[in-house]
Amino acid sequence: MVEKRVDAEDGQAYTYEDMCAYYKGQYKKAAMNAYWETCRVAGKKGAAKAKVKAKAKAKVKASAAAKTAKPKGQFKVVVCGGAGGIGQPLALLMAMNPAVGELSVQDLTVAMVPPAGVAADLGHIERPAKVTGFAIDVSLPAKDQMKECLEGAHLVLVPAGMPRKPGMTRDDLFNTNAGIAKGLVEACSIHCPEAILGLIVNPVNSVVPAMATLYEKKGLDPLKVIGVTTLDCVRANKFVATATGKPVSATRIPVVGGHAGKTILPLFSQDRFGKTLTEEQIKELDPRTQDAGTEVVDAKGGKGSATLSMAYAGAKFANAILAGLGGKATTECAYLKSPVGGEDCPFFTSKIRFGKKGVDKIHDIGTLNEHETTRLVEVKAQLKDEINKGLEYAKDKDLAKE
Ligand code: NAD
Ligand code: LMR
Repeated sequence: MVEKRVDAEDGQAYTYEDMCAYYKGQYKKAAMNAYWETCRVAGKKGAAKAKVKAKAKAKVKASAAAKTAKPKGQFKVVVCGGAGGIGQPLALLMAMNPAVGELSVQDLTVAMVPPAGVAADLGHIERPAKVTGFAIDVSLPAKDQMKECLEGAHLVLVPAGMPRKPGMTRDDLFNTNAGIAKGLVEACSIHCPEAILGLIVNPVNSVVPAMATLYEKKGLDPLKVIGVTTLDCVRANKFVATATGKPVSATRIPVVGGHAGKTILPLFSQDRFGKTLTEEQIKELDPRTQDAGTEVVDAKGGKGSATLSMAYAGAKFANAILAGLGGKATTECAYLKSPVGGEDCPFFTSKIRFGKKGVDKIHDIGTLNEHETTRLVEVKAQLKDEINKGLEYAKDKDLAKE
């Protein structure tokens, strides 16, 4: 007789095959095997109940999911760099989200505004979130100072790090920002290893591969480490809606590849309004979407990069994650470890469905027109090197165990 085991999530007994079928796409084989090992072997009673086939199991799980869906105000969100240019408005938008019950605003003791001040300010908003500020000393490891800040977190957003000045590329920020990210990601790996990490810090194209690889080297899920590229979609939507005169709220341009210059590839052909753009309009809007960050950096004249539109985009990303965790699967483009870019580009932005456990499905890039196909070659040529820079960084480093 085939052995059955009890899935603690719904108390039902299943064969190994049934359990694999249900969790397909959510757990890799090794993780599935590890989970199977934690399940109690079904006794007579359990076995009697276990006539359920994979399909029926999906039903059982769906209703269990509905029962266990998080009520409002039950998520804990952390904003690292929460006293900064992006951090403050992003923390505001997070405090306004009714799904957020607890919000940690974390920054340095030397930040322009003490994080406790940002938290006191946000704590007066008429929303359920309890807001707390946490300041860390930059000369000491983040992991030793962030237990209370991170413990129990579902989502950690990281806009901590240096922004560009005119004339700089995002890549110029790598040496400084990779160190900042590593300290924070290490702290997360210890205090909230199950949380989703949304990395906003630049250069996203290299920092995310570095941090996801360090997570994986520690035995954690690299798909918990996600690069936030939502701003590219937000910009493309706005530019297309403006050019076509159509409502921006109904415009959805997927932007794939990465988050720097030519690696930013808007797929206008995949949106009902975007596909009506003329060749001339595409010639203008494709490079504008690629260079929109620089447009803001230059306009701010050395006083920072996009902060308000990034906070908006960061909140859009966060809302998708929290909706997914709460049981309402939601899709946004994001940059993560992915098979979509092929062997050369093991990290890639495409549409991602976020569900109850975070990344639920990585969508392929779909059908491209001739222009997009040519651009994809450019994307991969640049992205490959930027990914390798991150992988190289992670090669001789590890995250501390505790
Ligand atoms: P900022 O300088 O205004 O704020 C950064 C904050 O991070 C500061 O308050 C600083 O004290 C804090 N910080 C530094 N080290 C820290 C640490 N170890 N722990 C906690 N906090 C720390 O910069 P900003 O304009 O908010 O930009 C932040 C980052 O976001 C930059 O790297 C920028 O390039 C990037 N960015 C990314 C996107 C994107 O689309 N992904 C968009 C805009 C900006
Ligand atoms: C952006 O796209 O606005 C950010 O990546 C910041 C930058 O340096 O351009």
